[in-house]
Amino acid sequence: MPRIALIPGDGIGVEVVHEARRVLEFVAEAEGADFELVDWDLGADRFLRDGITITDEEFRSLDEEHDAVLLGALGDPRVPSNQHAKDILLGMRFRLDLYVNFRPCVLLSPELSPLASAHTPLRLEIFRENTEGEYTGMGGAMREGTAAEVAVEENIATRLGVERIIRAAFEFADSRGRNRVTLVDKANVMRFVGGLWRRVFAEVADEFPDIETDAMFVDAMAMDLVRRPERYEVLVASNLFGDIISDLAAEITGGLGMAPSANIHPGRNALFEPVHGSAPDIAGQGRANPVGAIRCVALMMDHFGFHDAGERIEAAVVSSFESGETTPDLGGSLSTTEAATAIIEHLRAAYAVRA
Ligand code: NAD
Ligand code: IPM
Ligand code: MN
Repeated sequence: MPRIALIPGDGIGVEVVHEARRVLEFVAEAEGADFELVDWDLGADRFLRDGITITDEEFRSLDEEHDAVLLGALGDPRVPSNQHAKDILLGMRFRLDLYVNFRPCVLLSPELSPLASAHTPLRLEIFRENTEGEYTGMGGAMREGTAAEVAVEENIATRLGVERIIRAAFEFADSRGRNRVTLVDKANVMRFVGGLWRRVFAEVADEFPDIETDAMFVDAMAMDLVRRPERYEVLVASNLFGDIISDLAAEITGGLGMAPSANIHPGRNALFEPVHGSAPDIAGQGRANPVGAIRCVALMMDHFGFHDAGERIEAAVVSSFESGETTPDLGGSLSTTEAATAIIEHLRAAYAVRA
């Protein structure tokens, strides 16, 4: 029986996880799947109350006693250092070695894109390296606050880290019938890190002769994603570049509120979270789009082998959009809860047909 830790976190994270949970409970029951959902109280409130972000024992429990995590978002204006988000979110990614950050940005309907030329199918599936790059915290500062301040934030790339994310991207493309894998880097400037990525990319690509490959500098990639996104399929990038292009790809395919992500160490652990943050500007108003979080449930069901359920959730999201049952970011007037209820009703109808 899969045991899932639910970490709503901060801001709209709490609102969207509440709805994602309802979808998960509905689908699990419809599938006859036994999921145990465990509520976790991690986030800014706890940090401000107790001074604790996350303990070693909690990491151990997430690692050993849970099969997956569903997280909302972390980030709160009352914690300007963002310390708790770094400890909890980056902590899980690093300490659980969740090296694949899979961010599928799939356009469900052309009207959802701000690009006038956008059409379906448009499927930008990003494989973001999740344990290295500029995110390791290696670095330091001296003479802080003086005119002679020095700050260093290292960009770490290891052969192991680079190879395993590139391999994950190619294996995904190969198993799902995708035709092209694009490397996104800045090898024209980053000689050492860029050189490593390029060499390993070429080596792994040789093992998949049926898959087309290309490489784009990240600045040109940003431009081309707006100009002709349909040219791209699977993208693989370092931690920081993957972070940046995933927000861009999410916006092109319907907005941040729509995009899910999975942080995975294949065969070991998985953390599902929408790509968006805690959105303090709309938190507490009941207007957050729950679809990114609900699509995380689809990824989670797929992860646990319930592929049909994952597809049904995607289909229910499309149906709700086609019926205009959306939150204000998509032009609708529904609340977060009403939008989720609409999706659940479409699921109910779909499962009733099957039964
Ligand atoms: P954000 O994603 O929270 O918000 C950016 C914009 O998109 C805002 O205008 C917001 O209202 C809108 N938006 C985001 N999600 C939405 C949704 N579901 N429905 C409707 N509109 C939505 O990014 P930000 O403002 O840069 O960051 C806010 C906080 O969240 C910061 O503390 C940041 O560090 C944190 N953050 C956390 C995560 C995470 O936990 N995975 C991801 C990104 C940002
Ligand atoms: C994301 C976020 C995080 C990141 C922040 C909140 C640490 O932007 O999940 O995309 O940079 O990875
Ligand atoms: Mn981001």
